[in-house]
Amino acid sequence: MSKKSNYIADENRYEKMNYRRTGNSGLLLPELSLGLWHNFGGSDNFKNARNLLKCAFDNGITHFDLANNYGPPPGSAERNFGKILKKDFKNYRDELIISSKAGYGMWPGPYGDNGSKKFLMASLDQSLQRMELDYVDIFYHHRPDYNTPLEETMGALDLMVRQGKALYVGISNYQPKEAKRAFKILKDLGTPCLIHQPNYNLFDRWIENGLLDLLGDSGVGAICFSPLAQGMLTDKYINGLPKDSRAVKDSPFLNTEQVLEMLPKIKRLNEIAKNRNQTLAQMAISWILKDDRITSVLIGASKTEQILDSVKAIKNTSFSEEELALISDIS
Ligand SMILES: NC(=O)c1ccc[n+]([C@@H]2O[C@H](COP(=O)([O-])OP(=O)(O)OC[C@H]3O[C@@H](n4cnc5c(N)ncnc54)[C@H](OP(=O)(O)O)[C@@H]3O)[C@@H](O)[C@H]2O)c1
Repeated sequence: MSKKSNYIADENRYEKMNYRRTGNSGLLLPELSLGLWHNFGGSDNFKNARNLLKCAFDNGITHFDLANNYGPPPGSAERNFGKILKKDFKNYRDELIISSKAGYGMWPGPYGDNGSKKFLMASLDQSLQRMELDYVDIFYHHRPDYNTPLEETMGALDLMVRQGKALYVGISNYQPKEAKRAFKILKDLGTPCLIHQPNYNLFDRWIENGLLDLLGDSGVGAICFSPLAQGMLTDKYINGLPKDSRAVKDSPFLNTEQVLEMLPKIKRLNEIAKNRNQTLAQMAISWILKDDRITSVLIGASKTEQILDSVKAIKNTSFSEEELALISDIS
């Protein structure tokens, strides 16, 4: 059992971060947000998880991103987050933007996956119970479901807002064509889509083929996940494979073969970062933030030092034409 908290957030936290408007909405998000996909589950160190959240908030990171299935086991990140909120952030709920999602398999049977109204409504209720919250600030459909009418899925998001269980809604991992239809349906329902959450980093630039333009034109925000390609876009793998890294630990999402394949590119990008007086992690984040259609960069972290390193990215988000050309050559 950890001790009762006497956490008081750093009083200068809002001077340390920049905030950007989310599309055409009234909501400002920090340029860096923190995701709880890894390092907050039932099998992770609870004290470390607490410290990560406090460190982020002390540096002006007001947005924490979750999903029903984050753990492992699924649900445990939300449960741990609920405990930490109660202990440390009781007085700060109105200074936080908390998101959750549903769209991947969560419980057995035909109603525990995908995009039906039945699944999404029940999943949000379960997430609220686990986090001990009355509402989330943003609720996302986590991935497209081509077997459910988009009107039904978007209708569920609209209903959540009408029920007061979510303030805003978003979509994640949608391709431009479905995203455009989703925005239209939500707009017609009177619940405009706040934000899209796609994967975007120097090694995966797919959103440059239409999605970013669509988001800019539609007044929908963009929060990009895995900006460091799960840690590959840092200097951590340059001199070997650290035992406590995601690629070496038992992650189904990143393995050492992937890292070794990218290593030549990582080393070249690291040289460009050094010439900019940035760490590679900082440059990878700055490179995303250079585009003002991006609202926020959604980082993960296993150590507080990583958050402290990454937040410095906001200090230099401009790139010369030459730097951009060199980077594009490599990525
Ligand atoms: N919507 C979706 O489908 C979806 C999918 C994936 C993620 N997400 C969201 O995006 C969030 C971030 O994803 P991600 O964890 O893949 O992001 P990421 O920022 O690309 O990777 C984070 C990992 O990189 C390493 N790292 C971070 N900062 C570092 C630094 N400054 N120096 C060295 N290493 C550093 C740490 O790994 P080590 O363990 O190696 O230290 C950390 O856990 C998730 O938590 C989740 O909220 C959403």
